[in-house]
Amino acid sequence: MQTHEIRKRFLDHFVTAGHTEVPSASVILDDPNLLFVNAGMVQFVPFFLGQRTPPYDTATSVQKCIRTPDIDEVGITTRHNTFFQMAGNFSFGAYFKRGAIELAWSLLTNSVDDGGYGFDPERLWATVYYDDDEAEGLWQEIAGLPPERIQRRGMADNYWSMGIPGPCGPCSEIYYDRGPDYGIEGGPIANEDRYIEIWNLVFMQNERGEGTSKDDFEILGPLPRKNIDTGMGIERIACLLQNVDNVYEIDLLRPVIDIVAARAPRGYGQGNHADDVRYRVIADHSRTAAIIIGDGVTPGNEGRGYVLRRLLRRIIRAAKLLGVDDPIMAALMATVRDAMGPSYPELVTDFDRINRIAVAEETAFNRTLDAGSKLFTDAAEATRAAGKSVLTGSDAFALHDTYGFPIDLTLEMAAEAGLAVDELGFRELMSEQRRRAKADAAARKHAHADLSAYRELVDAGPTEFTGFDEMTTQARILGIFVDGKRVPVVSHTGRPEPGEESASRVEIVLDRTPLYAESGGQIADVGTLTGTGASSTARAAVDDVQKIAKTLFVHRVTVESGEFVEGDVITAEVDHNWRRGATQGHSGTHMVHAALRQVLGPGAVQAGSLNRPGYLRFDFNWQGALTETQRADIEQIANEAVQADFEVNTFLTELDQAKAMGAMALFGEAYPDRVRVVEIGGPFSLELCGGTHVRNSAQIGPVTLLGESSVGSGVRRVEAYVGLESFKHLARERALMAGLASSLKVPSEEVPGRVATLVEKLKTAEKELDKARLANARAAAANAAAGAESVGGVALVAQRMAAGMSAADLRSLVGDIRGKLGDGPGVVALIAEGEGGSVPFVVAVNQAAAARGLSANDLVRVLGAAVDGRGGGKPDLAQGSGRNAAGIDAGLAALRAEIARD
Ligand code: ALA
Repeated sequence: MQTHEIRKRFLDHFVTAGHTEVPSASVILDDPNLLFVNAGMVQFVPFFLGQRTPPYDTATSVQKCIRTPDIDEVGITTRHNTFFQMAGNFSFGAYFKRGAIELAWSLLTNSVDDGGYGFDPERLWATVYYDDDEAEGLWQEIAGLPPERIQRRGMADNYWSMGIPGPCGPCSEIYYDRGPDYGIEGGPIANEDRYIEIWNLVFMQNERGEGTSKDDFEILGPLPRKNIDTGMGIERIACLLQNVDNVYEIDLLRPVIDIVAARAPRGYGQGNHADDVRYRVIADHSRTAAIIIGDGVTPGNEGRGYVLRRLLRRIIRAAKLLGVDDPIMAALMATVRDAMGPSYPELVTDFDRINRIAVAEETAFNRTLDAGSKLFTDAAEATRAAGKSVLTGSDAFALHDTYGFPIDLTLEMAAEAGLAVDELGFRELMSEQRRRAKADAAARKHAHADLSAYRELVDAGPTEFTGFDEMTTQARILGIFVDGKRVPVVSHTGRPEPGEESASRVEIVLDRTPLYAESGGQIADVGTLTGTGASSTARAAVDDVQKIAKTLFVHRVTVESGEFVEGDVITAEVDHNWRRGATQGHSGTHMVHAALRQVLGPGAVQAGSLNRPGYLRFDFNWQGALTETQRADIEQIANEAVQADFEVNTFLTELDQAKAMGAMALFGEAYPDRVRVVEIGGPFSLELCGGTHVRNSAQIGPVTLLGESSVGSGVRRVEAYVGLESFKHLARERALMAGLASSLKVPSEEVPGRVATLVEKLKTAEKELDKARLANARAAAANAAAGAESVGGVALVAQRMAAGMSAADLRSLVGDIRGKLGDGPGVVALIAEGEGGSVPFVVAVNQAAAARGLSANDLVRVLGAAVDGRGGGKPDLAQGSGRNAAGIDAGLAALRAEIARD
């Protein structure tokens, strides 16, 4: 019976019994605890837990399941698949143990003519949970199973859960006895290869919590209802009904074995066990890989992506060991599609995408495998030569790090070579590398790419630049790099949120491209890459293009949707507006360069340049600033050349020839023998240049010189706007002028005269103001002298002055006041809150006071101490400055006290 028929009979049986047929869920459900869907019940978990009300009370499905924990058993036992189809029936509080047993038994044992599978009841066995008397009784009653064909087992075997918190319950499994050829008798507890499990009936009634293993977890309590969840392995039923030895030989998998056998020097089933295992591994894994890719996984280094990568690489490796050296992935994928397509139409509709991804991984892995295998052989030989039997951890690490060998592949190869591997050492090196990678993560953004990753593509030849003639080019993806590491596929992962750590650096190398890579002072084009055909949803924005080793164009991109796969043909397109601006900028640079040399002579040698859409800057050797006239002349000549609408010609010629023509080249730059010359207006401008240019000089638009400055000794820089940017710049200036004219209330042309008059007026006014201030100060001084207090026989003027007075102001006043105090002992101390938080103070002492032993130097220190400052000077005049205005009054009081003490 064909597998599709087995599926159909299952669903029909349960639909007839009132179940709703539910399609398989994707193998990826949004549950971080579950890498892949591993049972039919996964999509129904919320119904079992009572979190949601099911729209039906019984259901049936055939679910795509992935189970990889037993990947090492694949091909070795007769019954382990990494992908299998689980047929199930589910009851959400409707029927329970009796219903489940009745329905399963009838489907298994009804005759083929009756819509059943026609199994001989005598060969069927059952197991029940060790204390489940009820189930045992039902098996006897419904199926007539004798007690010796019903075995009791413990929690590890007969208590089912998903392995994580969720619904759980005791279960009862149905086994088929394949007979003595497959092992000893004694039922499933004795031998599970002979007694093969075909169906598991779970009496889903409890909820479990965290736990450490199959038989060690907490039971939290009963579910709201008693449910049924069953799972029948379609592949195992097929294996039995098709009378083949193992699940890899059923109708869905055997064609894969055959397609490999047709290409391998040694066939399948020729008595070589290791070979047969390899065939089965390929058959099993090809199917799993196709299903996983179909549900949206791409090869990667962690999580689901890693599972997929591992499967694909195990296929390739197994094929190699079978002696198949040519690429085989495409044939495998097509075979899987043909076998599985009738049940899984997505394998047909999405075939191109699935195939591209699988083949790209094959291509990439073959490349590293070739290089790595050599390293492995050398290391293995060296190990043996040293009389050792364990490959070092660092060898395994080098294979992983440099050639992408998964450790299990190294282990496998080592085992074949009769060696062990220091796995612990390998793991230590891995975690050390992870630590380093974390530490480097911040630095990585700016780090230079490790060029060795690109070496192979560089060696394969230069990228063809098509952008002189076209803006859109069909091109093939030659390589994809994420953070400098080559990968076969890159997909959209979303832009980082603002402020988030920026995403990975994604780079794509094409065989040809119309996008200009930054060089010769012209910055890179921006544009898009768009998938074609099967990858038509793929779209990436090209943010930058850089050259590696001068020949390889590397597009730095943001993938906006879909995925790009090595080998894809895509469409690369330059952003038209950007390119127009860029050609204006670059041709404008040539115009300014030519104009500059006309005005300044050949001594003005180019020292560097940079141009981007609408803007250019040009550095040249020159002593001293340009005069206003020189600048104006340069601008005028450049604009006249634009106006002349010169044709722009480009051609390739010999370097000597170009030099003989007088073409300008950058001093010290190494040029190839054949060079590209850009000629604008015949002799007006002739330069060696690889950049993109306008067709006619008029397309440059107005050239507006912004200014000229020095950028180092003997090097000047002019900057200019061209095209629309010129216009925008001029419009801004005009708006500025209009604003000025309106505030000055004169027509624009009178603005300069008006401003000159205003400046003149301002100067006169400031002088008047100074005079007035001084006069005021003098008057204040006279007042202050009149108001002198007498402290211990000394006439003292100790005052806080108006805020904002400077030390110089205070100094000029202090002398005046002292002069007005008369001949008796007199002291003047002035202090103020100055500018910027300073507290200037000045003390003057007249002769009579000095004769009494008073010193300006001492007194200034008293003030200084109070305002966190210091000061000094001569005995008759001293000054200082502090920082604490809050201490001014205290300072003056202390000064008074000091004078009184004397
Ligand atoms: N959920 C049960 C199993 O996977 C039927 O075995």
